[in-house]
Amino acid sequence: MERSLVLGIETSCDETAAALVREGREVVSNVVSSQITIHQQYGGVVPEIAARHHLANLLPVLDEACAVLDDPWKQIGAIAVTSGPGLAGALLVGVNGAKAIAFARKLPLIGVNHLEAHIYGNWLYDSGTQPGPLPEFPALSLLVSGGHSELILMHRHGHFELLGRTRDDAAGEAFDKVARILGLPYPGGPSLQRAAEGKLGASRPGDPNAFPLPRAQLGESYDFSFSGLKTAAQRLIGSLRASPEEPILPDTLADVAASFQEAVVDALIRQTVRALERFHVRSLLVAGGVAANGRLRELIAYRAHVPVFIPPLHYCTDNGAIIAGTAYFQLSRGVSTGLDLDVSPNLRLAG
Ligand code: KG4
Ligand code: ZN
Repeated sequence: MERSLVLGIETSCDETAAALVREGREVVSNVVSSQITIHQQYGGVVPEIAARHHLANLLPVLDEACAVLDDPWKQIGAIAVTSGPGLAGALLVGVNGAKAIAFARKLPLIGVNHLEAHIYGNWLYDSGTQPGPLPEFPALSLLVSGGHSELILMHRHGHFELLGRTRDDAAGEAFDKVARILGLPYPGGPSLQRAAEGKLGASRPGDPNAFPLPRAQLGESYDFSFSGLKTAAQRLIGSLRASPEEPILPDTLADVAASFQEAVVDALIRQTVRALERFHVRSLLVAGGVAANGRLRELIAYRAHVPVFIPPLHYCTDNGAIIAGTAYFQLSRGVSTGLDLDVSPNLRLAG
């Protein structure tokens, strides 16, 4: 591609984001406008409010992402945008914005699958830093986000095979729900991690073995299930409170959070290791918002016998760089989208 930058736009949930990425890897700019403080007061993302804020934020975010270069349009060769999965109204803002730019600038438009993009976070590096080694194929991907928990075989660029998925809640969703029961702020994952580390008023880090919590037994499958764990955690929390309004003591909160986090991380790693033993892969790619979890990052590298890739924290959660990076590899295979691109709120990756 003569113009080596892709402009990536992401509006699938509660982050309005845009980024410039060179040749699928080098992140030249990456701007994320988070709506967390707005949705926090409701305890979760309100779709209508998210869409309205995307509309207000998209142009300023795009301007900021392009402002790092004197004449960005001389270098931008394509416009990429998340087309799904995600909230329909939120996706529409990004897709229509991307279409308008692609039309006005006469550039190709590429609709990107948000799940695929999370996996491609493992190819990114910040401009001005040394690129890490490239993941080798075939690779196994553990994709864990707010809406998805999946084990995927990636045979080569663009070729994905679903091995297992959650039968009920996604890992991030389980973090969010239990955090909410504990009275911790949205998004629950980072709050729960902080509680587990003893950073919410406790005198020490939480003990991951303080409370025995169940790990789902799912036979020979590579699926996940977190609803039983969530219910057990809910019962445990209820039993620790004298009344529903009663706060839990900070040290006990740390122990509950650490025990719950351990159960989720353990379940994710167990299934991943089983898949690694069964399928001969050359790398493990951890991806999605839950890949930001410190305990998962710490433990998974010990348990896998192949090189483990986990994006830096800012490329785990939603951003435009993963979208632009993915689009480059799509373009390299000759895949692009017409201006009739539509949103696909229930888009899947494979299987
Ligand atoms: O990938 P993402 O930003 O959005 C989706 O595509 O869903 O993932 C968001 C999810 C939320 O459920 C959030 O609680 C979780 O990732 N998450 C974490 C951590 N940071 C974000 N879960 C556990 N520990 C974290 N540090
Ligand atoms: Zn995401």
